[in-house]
Amino acid sequence: MSAKRNRRALGRREFLRSAARAGAAVAFAPTGLGVAKEGEAVEPINVALIGAGTQGEVLLTACLKIPGVRFQAVCDIWEAQNLTRASRLLKRYGHPGTPYIDCDEMLAKEKGLHAAIIATPDFWHARHTVACLEAGLHVYCEKAMSNTPEGARQMVEAARRTGKLLQIGHQRRSNPRYLFCREKLFREMGLFGRITAVNGQWNRAVQAPFGCPKGKEIDDATLKRYGYGSMQEFRNWRWHKGLGGGPIVDLGAHQIDVYNWLLDARPKSVFASGRLNYYDKGTREWYDTVMAVYEYDTAQGPVTASYQTLSANSNQGYFEKFMGDRGTLVLSERADRTRLYPEPTDEPATTWARCVKNGYLTAQPEWMKLVERMSVEELAKTLSVSGTVETTGKTPILELAVELNKPIHQPHLENFFDAIRSKAKLNCPAEVGYEAALTVLKVNEAIETGRRLEFKTEEFNA
Ligand SMILES: NC(=O)c1ccc[n+]([C@@H]2O[C@H](COP(=O)([O-])OP(=O)(O)OC[C@H]3O[C@@H](n4cnc5c(N)ncnc54)[C@H](O)[C@@H]3O)[C@@H](O)[C@H]2O)c1
Repeated sequence: MSAKRNRRALGRREFLRSAARAGAAVAFAPTGLGVAKEGEAVEPINVALIGAGTQGEVLLTACLKIPGVRFQAVCDIWEAQNLTRASRLLKRYGHPGTPYIDCDEMLAKEKGLHAAIIATPDFWHARHTVACLEAGLHVYCEKAMSNTPEGARQMVEAARRTGKLLQIGHQRRSNPRYLFCREKLFREMGLFGRITAVNGQWNRAVQAPFGCPKGKEIDDATLKRYGYGSMQEFRNWRWHKGLGGGPIVDLGAHQIDVYNWLLDARPKSVFASGRLNYYDKGTREWYDTVMAVYEYDTAQGPVTASYQTLSANSNQGYFEKFMGDRGTLVLSERADRTRLYPEPTDEPATTWARCVKNGYLTAQPEWMKLVERMSVEELAKTLSVSGTVETTGKTPILELAVELNKPIHQPHLENFFDAIRSKAKLNCPAEVGYEAALTVLKVNEAIETGRRLEFKTEEFNA
């Protein structure tokens, strides 16, 4: 039986009882922050969506589940396709969704906007964010914060100057599972002991370039006006220098931010290899294969962290793996890829048993019956730590007592709207996004120079 089905078999009441005992699942389960309690009126927040492509639509859809979010306008330069589709969708759900091609025109004409959600290509983030902040809006801007350190710095400065909120779309920072692991397993329990190494990846299968439906092309003058040399470049901006930062920035930004966050540190150096191993230079300018090694000095001691992104092989997908002397945490936005592994020494068993006792981890139903009557020490004896906790047989299957039961971007958006309503602090404010952007952009510089590059502490201060 799979671990997931095992937990389901636990029964809802029993699961909640064990979790509530320690306040774990209850405190870290998605609480629907920003979601009105039944009958409670919510002051509407008037929002403009800028960039209604793949991710813009994902964010829009997640926002439709959050009461009080009203899409007043939508802006996208692809009028024949994404702009029309998003505006129609919004109108269908009762939002004004007034369409605009140009962001500046929208900001000049639309009155009463409170916030903007920006999901345009990376090289537009700084310009759009600064313009919206200057127009008095709070901004949720997608990661990577910018494709240049200068762009990211301008965004931080504009947020400070205007006093408006700027949330960067590193959504893992609001993911209950990530928060739970950081706060409970790392900080409170020290479950994995002294972390010495981190290893992560985002491997993707071969992808054909994005095309354009016949008759939906943008005219050359409009493409040029917004910085694109051709329709091919517009559709595949990620692979072009000056528009995106390549897979290391696109994908690594998420996970290397998690390294900084969970280690509570910034790297002191990086060296990297990046090559175009598979694709043709004509379609992709950025490296399709990157392997980077960061060195951190954390409060616990030195940590070496590797990261790879492949574009022609998807083996094992994406995860971040934290390796300590008491155990390993494999964390992923995908719940089914999240795994815990104890080290084969005696001491961890007690800590792992304590985590089960206090409801941070759940186990097979048969084993949970023992939890009720055994002491932590007795439990620890029944917990074999010689294998992984996912193996069957004598070893109980352990799982995190926390789930994300809504779209992955929703908690981060809720956090943004709650911050606007002064009910929460931003989980990824401009300064944090800036640190992540600098950390990951340095990889491209390390590849180009072929050198091991040092980070200066002051570099991280925008
Ligand atoms: N947080 C996440 O998990 C996640 C996932 C995917 C993408 N993203 C980020 O979201 C952003 C968008 O990515 P995508 O995959 O949706 O790309 P996309 O190409 O599908 O969409 C971009 C949209 O922006 C529009 N656009 C381009 N230039 C514009 C301009 N100057 N003004 C207005 N509209 C403009 C395009 O017409 C298109 O509709 C990127 O920054 C990307 O890194 C984040």
